[in-house]
Amino acid sequence: MKIAIGNDHAAPELKLAVKAHLEERGFTVVDMGCAPGERCDYPDTAADVCRKVVSGECELGILICGTGLGMSYAANKVKGIRAACCSDYFSARLSREHNNANVLCFGARVVGEGTALDLADIFVDTPFSGDERHQRRLDKITAIEENGI
Ligand code: RB5
Repeated sequence: MKIAIGNDHAAPELKLAVKAHLEERGFTVVDMGCAPGERCDYPDTAADVCRKVVSGECELGILICGTGLGMSYAANKVKGIRAACCSDYFSARLSREHNNANVLCFGARVVGEGTALDLADIFVDTPFSGDERHQRRLDKITAIEENGI
């Protein structure tokens, strides 16, 4: 599986830790974030990662900023993206099983490295259930995206 990852200046070290962990597990990780010492605006990075996901080049994306919030706001503006901002394992699992999220966001000022690696593992390892009732609700989200409210 190919995973796009991105971060702003609040999270370069945590991004490198998550990237190394996923690569050790055999995933190909496309790094769209800024390096330690650099600064960047989270909407730009979110757009870069989401472009990789909606184009199909990467199956899933991971975005890390200070809180995970700004990244998730920006990512959820992109057509076809369902971004989940999670700091607990239950939400990370359900974001995949029920919501078929394709981008995981979390905050480097919120979670420590151990939790971040576990969140990433849960997210990439959990499939969408495919259940009809969940798909129906996702289709309603897509309808809002297509037609507005
Ligand atoms: C940058 O200082 C910070 O605002 C950003 O990383 C993020 O937390 C925004 O949601």
